[in-house]
Amino acid sequence: MKIGNLDLGQRPVFLAPMEDVTDIGFRLLCRQMGAAMVYSEFVAADALVRMVNKSLKKLEVCDEERPVAIQIYGKEPEAMADAARIVVEQAHPDVLDLNFGCPVKKIAGKGAGAGMLQNVPKLLEITRAVVDAVGAQVPVTVKTRLGWDHEHKIIVELAEQLQDCGISALTIHGRTRSQMYTDQADWTLIGAVKQNPRMHIPIIGNGDITSAEKAVEAFERYGVDAIMVGRATFGRPWIFREITEALDPTLAGRRVEEMSIDWKLDILKEQTLTSISRLGELSGIRHVRRHLAASPLFKGIPDFRQTRIKMLQADTVQELFEVMEYTRDLLHRLPVG
Ligand SMILES: Cc1cc2nc3c(=O)[nH]c(=O)nc-3n(C[C@H](O)[C@H](O)[C@H](O)COP(=O)(O)O)c2cc1C
Repeated sequence: MKIGNLDLGQRPVFLAPMEDVTDIGFRLLCRQMGAAMVYSEFVAADALVRMVNKSLKKLEVCDEERPVAIQIYGKEPEAMADAARIVVEQAHPDVLDLNFGCPVKKIAGKGAGAGMLQNVPKLLEITRAVVDAVGAQVPVTVKTRLGWDHEHKIIVELAEQLQDCGISALTIHGRTRSQMYTDQADWTLIGAVKQNPRMHIPIIGNGDITSAEKAVEAFERYGVDAIMVGRATFGRPWIFREITEALDPTLAGRRVEEMSIDWKLDILKEQTLTSISRLGELSGIRHVRRHLAASPLFKGIPDFRQTRIKMLQADTVQELFEVMEYTRDLLHRLPVG
């Protein structure tokens, strides 16, 4: 599939934008694991326009992680267009994505992110302003949800309107704003957008892809052009390899190479070191705790609670790696299968 002129291959799998997660180190790791494109954390348009350092830092990208999308959010057309120009000038992203899906109160409550779903004319005005500002240089895309709430699932009509604004692809998270992250993502409406004969831009499906089986189903049952994986990457960046191998018709379900316990543990250690090299020892460790806490690698180890607590409380790399090496022994002692 293609977004603008950017060729992303057959049935590509993307890393979802996630605040405080998809920094440059994690994006690079996920690309190495097989993500076809990676998204930055969302960046506030207002802050970019005011040249706030912390936000400008989020525009740092490296060539090895390309293709990379930078995502911005905001609620004023002018600020969004100005921010888009800044992003293009500073980061030269492969895609510029607009966030109309963030459900958290401090964003959506102020009318930005998913809050825009309550003001569709403004949402479309912003989209047109950004396409006008930078659409000639970079494909502009949108990520949103099904609608504001159960009574207002507007995505089928909204998708057409967004396409008419000139966007190059649309990502749909199969939940409403009201659902936040509860319930199961509903893929039927994502499928309905894809089936709409008026739609010709690529549709990227998102929500609850937690396994290779679910990824295959997303493509085969709902017909999406790409999928995007978020939370299931926590402590499991190799999910991209699991999915891409399952999707590769030449492999017919075979594994290219066994992903061993040692290999996975070493990936998590490498991720920790990368994080430390960027943020310093303590902040770097804190930054990866979410991944260590969620990692399926440690599930099923008997009596793991105390070791897990030690792992999540370690605040030097030496301490943390000692616990991880001890855990390696525990993992090797697990019965095979
Ligand atoms: C910690 C966290 C941060 C997120 N930050 C963003 C963000 O900055 N921009 C965005 O569009 N979505 C954000 N999301 C939503 C995800 O991109 C994705 O749509 C959602 O998690 C559903 O996909 P999943 O079920 O694969 O996790 C965030 C989600 C989480 C859990």
